[in-house]
Amino acid sequence: MDKLKMVQRFPRSRDRLLAILHELQRANPRNYLTGEDLRLVAQYLDLPLSQVHDAVTFYSMFSLVPRGRHIIRLCDSPPCHLAGAWSLLAALQEELGIRVGETTPDGLFTLEFTSCLGVCGVAPAMMIDDQVYGNLNPERVREILAGYREAG
Ligand code: FES
Repeated sequence: MDKLKMVQRFPRSRDRLLAILHELQRANPRNYLTGEDLRLVAQYLDLPLSQVHDAVTFYSMFSLVPRGRHIIRLCDSPPCHLAGAWSLLAALQEELGIRVGETTPDGLFTLEFTSCLGVCGVAPAMMIDDQVYGNLNPERVREILAGYREAG
């Protein structure tokens, strides 16, 4: 679907700004928003481009640079830290061969930190795309990554 049609499915209301940005980012296989996307949204909602840009840079779920097909967000808030998130970080970095903020050369994964995912009862936790995983250990992390690799 072309981007204009995608945007036009939303009411022309400024409180739809984040929802529209989400939709555009989700539709991009590299998981980011282009300058053209921002201009399109600004025009559609009759907002200054700077305001759209501010929203995109304020929320960590948006990116202005290309990322992997799957975004891995490892929780680095205190409860997950105490439950051993550091060992998950080591496993993720070793398994993926990248550091936080980087994308694997095959374009499959980007690794990021996030603050609390709201599932502290099953800490340590991470999220891949829209799926939350809890009660993790390094071995489970490797299994999960293998599943995504198999699925492509
Ligand atoms: S601190 Fe990690 S999910 Fe809440």
